Amino acid sequence: MPNARTVRRSSRDLQQRWRESDNSVMNTLPSLPCYLNGEFTELPNAKVSVMDRGFIFGDGVYEVVPVYAGQPFRFEQHMARLDRSLSELRIANPLSKAQWAGIAGQLITAYAKSVGANTQDTDQLIYIQITRGVAMRDHVMTQGIAPTVFVMSNAMKPVPPAQRSSGVTCVTADDFRWEKAHIKSTSLLGAVFARQISFDAGAMETVMFRHGFLSEAAASNVWVVKDGKVLGVPKDHLVLEGIRFGLIEEICHARGIGFELRRISRDEVLNADELLLSSATKEVLAITTLDGKPVGTGKPGPVYAALYAGYQAAKAQAALGSAQ
Ligand SMILES: Cc1ncc(COP(=O)(O)O)c(C=O)c1O
Repeated sequence: MPNARTVRRSSRDLQQRWRESDNSVMNTLPSLPCYLNGEFTELPNAKVSVMDRGFIFGDGVYEVVPVYAGQPFRFEQHMARLDRSLSELRIANPLSKAQWAGIAGQLITAYAKSVGANTQDTDQLIYIQITRGVAMRDHVMTQGIAPTVFVMSNAMKPVPPAQRSSGVTCVTADDFRWEKAHIKSTSLLGAVFARQISFDAGAMETVMFRHGFLSEAAASNVWVVKDGKVLGVPKDHLVLEGIRFGLIEEICHARGIGFELRRISRDEVLNADELLLSSATKEVLAITTLDGKPVGTGKPGPVYAALYAGYQAAKAQAALGSAQ
């Protein structure tokens, strides 16, 4: 039984870890270039109405697009997912694809300039958010108002080398989020709770299960490797279809690795040869410890190595394509 002193100490530890985390409170926002409703500005100057439905209801969608060597990676696919999310919320896309590309391009250049680097020498992360707009509070999906459009670019923080080479620790939890997980919605309180479970446990991600079947992690998709084959969950309303879904399938086909999407039981996850995470920032990343137990050999495995190499090749290929 934990006594009052150990409880106090562990809550102090948590607070300490929280302070040390990247999410610690900042009193001032950095002067990063951003775009808000038609204007290019900097973060401290970008202001939105308190009656914005994004603030009041979380009534909006977002995208996170990786940028390598100054070029957005898989931009078309991100734009297609943005369209899908917007249409679920019955918000008309306020900009054309060319306009989105133009804003992204300007912000990438502005960010590189703000850190004194050449654009092609920077890896960045573009964040796009669209909310329904500003209106008096009413739950109904107000129509006929101008959506709020916000875009920013920041440095892409690569996965630390130790995590790349040794893999990461994750914990499991029930998936208590809503049943519209396929929408990349800014209503993220479920994901915030889910991520906090792993953060409090000193782990990188929370692998979630719905009624005993794998769904995804708080901010990543999860992949199971068994007998040399990559298994992923069906692309349905219970998970966000990460842009890496299609990419991992392509890499598997190109490298002769089996690939299948189907329901995956908790037992299959716990007995996997390898487990992987994927997301814009993690790319593909090996989970080597789950709930305190080693996954497979406890080291990143051969399928991870093949997918990671394929991912780097796809980045190089995209850079080559855009230079032509
Ligand atoms: C819930 C969830 N699943 C999966 C992903 C991975 O998506 P992507 O590969 O597009 O980054 C994310 C990314 O943020 C996410 O939030």
